[in-house]
Amino acid sequence: MNTVILIGFMGAGKTTVGMALSKRDNIPLVDTDQRIIEKAGMSISEIFARKGEEAFRQIESQVLSELLDQKNPIVVSVGGGLPLKEENRRMLKRIGTVIYLKVRPETVLERLKGDTTRPLLAGPDEKQKVRELLEKRGPIYQEAADLVLCVDGKSVEEIVGELEERIREQA
Ligand code: S3P
Repeated sequence: MNTVILIGFMGAGKTTVGMALSKRDNIPLVDTDQRIIEKAGMSISEIFARKGEEAFRQIESQVLSELLDQKNPIVVSVGGGLPLKEENRRMLKRIGTVIYLKVRPETVLERLKGDTTRPLLAGPDEKQKVRELLEKRGPIYQEAADLVLCVDGKSVEEIVGELEERIREQA
C-alpha cells in the first residue's frame, strides 16, 4: 500500500483507524497531533492557551512538511484543522492518497462527550460549535480528498476493510 493520509473532523476516528491500518499492513503510523505535542513539549490545549491557535497552526504545517521527504509508505492521521490551509492541502496530495473520514455531527458529539482535549470545542454550546465547524469544513475536506468514506455506525474493522477495498479499486 502507498502512503495513506486520514483527514476529517475531530472525533471521526482518524487516529483509531490509522492505528488499525498501520497494524494490519505493518507500516508506521504518524499522527501529526502527536508530533506537535512532542515538538512543543506540551499538550495541544496548552499550546492553544499559552501561544495561541496561530502558533499551533504553524507547527502543524511544519510537521506536515517534514513528511514530504518520507521514502517508505506510512499511514498519516492529521488534526481536523490541518486541511483548512491551501498550502497544507497541496502538501497532502504530494504525500499520498488522502482519505476523508466523513462523520455526522451527532456521532462527533457522542464520541467526544466529556472530552477536554479539544480547545476548539471547549466551553458552552458544544453542539452548535460542532455543527457550525462541520458545515464550514465539510466542503474543504471534500475538496482535499481523493476518497470519501462515511464512518457513522461502522466499526473500525468495517472502516479499514472498506478503505482498503476502495484504495484497491482506485489503483
Ligand atoms: C483541531 C483538531 C484536533 C487538534 C486541535 C485542532 C481542529 O485534532 O489538531 O485540537 O481544528 O479541528 P483531532 O482532529 O485529532 O481531534
